[in-house]
Amino acid sequence: MDKIKQQQKPFVDALEEYCRLQMIPFHTPGHKGGRQASAYQRTLFGEALRRDLGLMYALDNLFQPVGPLQEAMALAADLYGAGKSFFSVNGTTACNEAMIMAVCHEGEEIIIPREAHRSVLGGIVLSGAMPVYLPSRFASEEQVSLGPTPAAVMRTIQAHPRAKAVLLTYPTYEGIAIDLAPMIHYAHERGLYVLVDEAHGAHLPFHPDLPASALACGADCAAQSTHKLTGSLTQTSMLHCRADFPRLTQVTAAMSFVQSTSPNYWLLASLDSARHQLATAGPALIGKAVQLARQVRSEINGIQGLHSFGREILQYEGLSGLDETKICIDFSGVGLSGGEAEKQLRAQGIEVELTAGNHVLALLTMGDDEHTAAALVQACRRIAEKPGGQPTAVYRELPLPVPVVVQTPRQAWRGTKERVPLKKAVGRIVGETITFYPPGIPVIAPGERLTGECVRYIQEKMNRQYVPNGASDITLQTILAVKE
Ligand SMILES: Cc1ncc(COP(=O)(O)O)c(C=O)c1O
Repeated sequence: MDKIKQQQKPFVDALEEYCRLQMIPFHTPGHKGGRQASAYQRTLFGEALRRDLGLMYALDNLFQPVGPLQEAMALAADLYGAGKSFFSVNGTTACNEAMIMAVCHEGEEIIIPREAHRSVLGGIVLSGAMPVYLPSRFASEEQVSLGPTPAAVMRTIQAHPRAKAVLLTYPTYEGIAIDLAPMIHYAHERGLYVLVDEAHGAHLPFHPDLPASALACGADCAAQSTHKLTGSLTQTSMLHCRADFPRLTQVTAAMSFVQSTSPNYWLLASLDSARHQLATAGPALIGKAVQLARQVRSEINGIQGLHSFGREILQYEGLSGLDETKICIDFSGVGLSGGEAEKQLRAQGIEVELTAGNHVLALLTMGDDEHTAAALVQACRRIAEKPGGQPTAVYRELPLPVPVVVQTPRQAWRGTKERVPLKKAVGRIVGETITFYPPGIPVIAPGERLTGECVRYIQEKMNRQYVPNGASDITLQTILAVKE
């Protein structure tokens, strides 16, 4: 990393300099620097309105950068050890779609985890690729997905010698890191590209106890939600490609395909300033978050009836690290589901990231301090001390049906669909994804044949009051089937 150059903020400075010129705008946006903004908008956005610019050739072009944006992206690449980095104003969603489109064509196989984020399926639909699913692994005690083992990845690659790429999620939402380096090494030996959905990993390089970054493990491309755990604005991400990655032209084209032609320059400046902040103060800021998270985890584990797993999770096979800033708090010992705990936390002014089974997931980031950490622990303590809760058995996950893939998701997407009563749809090709949390792994995805096993799984989940995610009919009395 070039420490001197990393002090610069080329795009932030260019935007500020441009605003100082006070040009009279005869271009979009229609509010013209806030001149016609409503009183509410002025209160809400203030000075930001003057910076609300999109696709100004005077400043630079996100899709063909030659000036300050190019410099800002080069600094991001330098910081993260990439050959080339791209900015995204459509999150990691766009980055996942673009990297898949860059390496896979119609009908080509891509190996992915079954619990991949839905943007991965989006990329598969856009590219026309055929997904090959890695077997999913779920830790029933902790109620979290573990991701595939190196052995499972190697077996799947051997069984699909024509696969073009493997895409892996690293780390998981809950901070669990699979043993990525040997998987990448093996895939590369067999001529596959390795793409990594590192949405939850923009902070990894800044603390030695966090899992190694995907690029450091040898990935070809890594998509990171800069906005999720570091300092840029919501919706902004980066896609990093290793030096000499041979599909850069395709990535460049795909990144322009999946984003607005009016990228907001305020959002892009937030990426440049987040990069600058990480380069100049990343280790201190992320170090503080790790420290606070360790303290919170230890205090939560001192409260009777509550539990937050830590590094002992690494006893499961095939894992290489844990991002300790992700705190899963299990309330089963005080008789609460994650959803009920979430409501009780909300009543005390605490909002968590997600809930599943008996736990909530709280994120400690560089935005936290001793006060926010203490407020979380205090709220958990109050819930645990309330009389009445009976310890509940941890719900054991049912084994997931084995997917029967018969069409590419793109074929199913494009096919004419009809609504069919669930039980009558056995044997039909399904046109939608159905997922329950936990385990957050699809029961069925577009292009797969609905089996009796799937129907029994769905009914069991519905009987237990689980709400399906992605289903067009959330009662699941009916399902979308492709007309054959
Ligand atoms: C694993 C994973 N990948 C990708 C995404 C999409 O990221 P973004 O919200 O930045 O588009 C998410 C969002 O939650 C995610 O959890």
